[in-house]
Amino acid sequence: MERAGVTRGSAPRQRKGPGVMRRVAVLGSTGSVGCNTVELVAANPHAYEVEALVALRNVERLASQAREVRAKLAVVADESRYRALKSLLEGSGIEVAAGAASVVEAAARPSDWVMAAIVGAAGLAPTLAAVERGAMVALANKEVLVCAGALVTDAAKRHGARLLPVDSEHNAIFQVFDSGQAHAIERIVLTASGGPFRERSREAMAAATPAEAVAHPNWRMGAKISVDSATMMNKGLEVIEAHHLFDLPSERIEVVVHPQSVVHGLVYYSDGSVLAQLGSPDMRTPIANALGWPLRIPAPSPRLDLAALGRLAFEAPDLDRFPALRLAREALAAGDGAPTVLNAANEVAVAAFLDGRIGFLDIAAIVEEALAALPDRPIAELDDVYDTDREARAYASSRVGNGVRRAAGG
Ligand SMILES: NC(=O)c1ccc[n+]([C@@H]2O[C@H](COP(=O)([O-])OP(=O)(O)OC[C@H]3O[C@@H](n4cnc5c(N)ncnc54)[C@H](OP(=O)(O)O)[C@@H]3O)[C@@H](O)[C@H]2O)c1
Repeated sequence: MERAGVTRGSAPRQRKGPGVMRRVAVLGSTGSVGCNTVELVAANPHAYEVEALVALRNVERLASQAREVRAKLAVVADESRYRALKSLLEGSGIEVAAGAASVVEAAARPSDWVMAAIVGAAGLAPTLAAVERGAMVALANKEVLVCAGALVTDAAKRHGARLLPVDSEHNAIFQVFDSGQAHAIERIVLTASGGPFRERSREAMAAATPAEAVAHPNWRMGAKISVDSATMMNKGLEVIEAHHLFDLPSERIEVVVHPQSVVHGLVYYSDGSVLAQLGSPDMRTPIANALGWPLRIPAPSPRLDLAALGRLAFEAPDLDRFPALRLAREALAAGDGAPTVLNAANEVAVAAFLDGRIGFLDIAAIVEEALAALPDRPIAELDDVYDTDREARAYASSRVGNGVRRAAGG
């Protein structure tokens, strides 16, 4: 069965011939994925026309990007930053807007391709707006699929939208996933770097600081996903994301720790073949893959030197030291609103950790408590997602606020 247009072989719903500009919008343009996307777009001015750029607060970077790529519209979600953005873009002819509704409108404006690179469930409404008008949606914002996966993939099918995976592991699998022979696919493998605490004991992790947690060994990313990588919740979110993108059950989505982050994803076929995608750990490769799809466009990522690498290492993940990965699989198995609860509680706990209000191990502990406290939330429509998300945030905030945190190891 084809899910949400996540197929490799067939041509996209392109109304334009080759050589014609692709109109793009970048949601979360000032972040790590967003900046890489804008860099690639700016390097190909004859191929892309920028309809809209969207950020939360960073109007300085947003305005400079908007001028650089001559965006038609720049939107800042935080309304208190509207005046500052307006004055930075004075005389440029670039339209300026602010507020959450304007973010959704930016995604809803006609463009061929939308990069969904807002962080967290905040990206759900604008991503859905792009899906519902049948756009090609390059999806970096994995939390959207974690909190509302079935609703988003159903909407994509209904509206003829195409989801292009941007997460490096999912993009890798997308490149080697023969959807015409899905019956011959036994399982897929997502690789995980293991994060900065791969070799740390639970006791040592209990004392981890935010600065240590965001210092990822291979990737330069935003703070939230860096902490998710350190807890390995990121890989848990990615298992749920892969389930929705590739229509596979949890037991056919394997996770293997691969500290070098060179092999990003693999597909095992029934004849014993294993197809993998390799590349240096640089998000410009998967972003370029989605930006040019179904064609390939150049990206300046460093090229792999296999002889210099010498060896590639792989190991099984340690679910005792990294319980977040187990929790994500349990949430996926529980179904209904459990993944929504997992995601919302994790967002609250990660923010609290980054603020120094809880310890590193408390992140997974709070998520586990939230999953136990809020079982069986049915998800039939979008309002159910928002209600469950709100409830889980309130619950997790109360656990953060109780001052009972700072779990010891073990
Ligand atoms: N970074 C990576 O290498 C990577 C790899 C794979 C997947 N991803 C996924 O991609 C997403 C983005 O990650 P990131 O590392 O790029 O995050 P990031 O650096 O923190 O950037 C987040 C972006 O979203 C904007 N934003 C945040 N909340 C918003 C809101 N409510 N409305 C509008 N804009 C909002 C931010 O604006 P301000 O700058 O103004 O705050 C920023 O532009 C995440 O879901 C992450 O899991 C990232």
